[in-house]
Amino acid sequence: MPGVVDNLKEIAEARRLLGSARRILILTGAGVSAESGVPTFRGPDGLWKTHRPEALATPEAFQADPRLVWEWYGWRRERVGACRPNAAHAAIARLTLGNENARLVTQNVDGLHELALEEAVSEGCSSTGSAERAVPTRAAPIRLHGSLFRTRCTGCDDRTMDRRPVDAASEATLPRCKRCGALLRPDVVWFGEGLDPEVLQRAMRSAETAEICLVVGTSGLVHPAASLPLLTRESGGVVLEVNLESTPLTTIAMSSIRGRAGQILPKLLEAEPELND
Ligand code: OAD
Repeated sequence: MPGVVDNLKEIAEARRLLGSARRILILTGAGVSAESGVPTFRGPDGLWKTHRPEALATPEAFQADPRLVWEWYGWRRERVGACRPNAAHAAIARLTLGNENARLVTQNVDGLHELALEEAVSEGCSSTGSAERAVPTRAAPIRLHGSLFRTRCTGCDDRTMDRRPVDAASEATLPRCKRCGALLRPDVVWFGEGLDPEVLQRAMRSAETAEICLVVGTSGLVHPAASLPLLTRESGGVVLEVNLESTPLTTIAMSSIRGRAGQILPKLLEAEPELND
């Protein structure tokens, strides 16, 4: 890990670049939510260390044992539902609300970016006395891998936001579609499934047009998400990375800042940084 002095220099340089960029893309992964208590996938305590993705996060697993898959997603919904956005989510939310040329693309399904945006909007309303509490569409994250809190019908494909607890005691108690009665599934992208083409298109367009792609807390191992910073690079833009460790994306990054997202992001994105801890 670079020393504090190196880190400070890198942060100052990254702030300068971010401050002068017209179009910014932020790409986040599980690491941005780690300080909120959401488990990552590949770290020492990562979900894929103790759970087999092929048994829980594939269409085949759902077909073979929907109860088991829902039990796992029900547990994740409960765990994540108790977590709050951290300082990194808050800094990103303020940036995307305040800068109409900033876009957020996330691999996360935990909904914490959305909560941070809602909190930032209501903070803004209480300070300005404004009654407008809606998050502008352009500030909403482009969610590459879906949402833990949305269901998708296996019959009619209807998608619904749903934060209720899941009863996975038996197959008979699993959530079913109000319209057609078919089994619902979590609306997340599983291994072996493609991303929503329209969502991917929007993410790729943001990556191609960004002057800076700031990559935060992702291992950079899962594509196509991990290819987005490359698109920015190939289009003449700059990649910056914030992570605890180096990743395959470090090699294409102009600067890779080692540290926790919750500590680094406010220093990178907020107006008055405190560069001395
Ligand atoms: P990973 O668990 O693969 O990687 C998390 C990254 O965050 C690692 O590089 C950590 O070093 C870094 N990290 C951990 N804590 C951090 C902190 N406080 N601050 C900054 N960085 C930190 O998670 P993802 O890259 O998001 O896909 O995983 C990508 C995809 O793989 C996920 O969306 C999921 C998973 O299988 C699907 O479910 C489709």
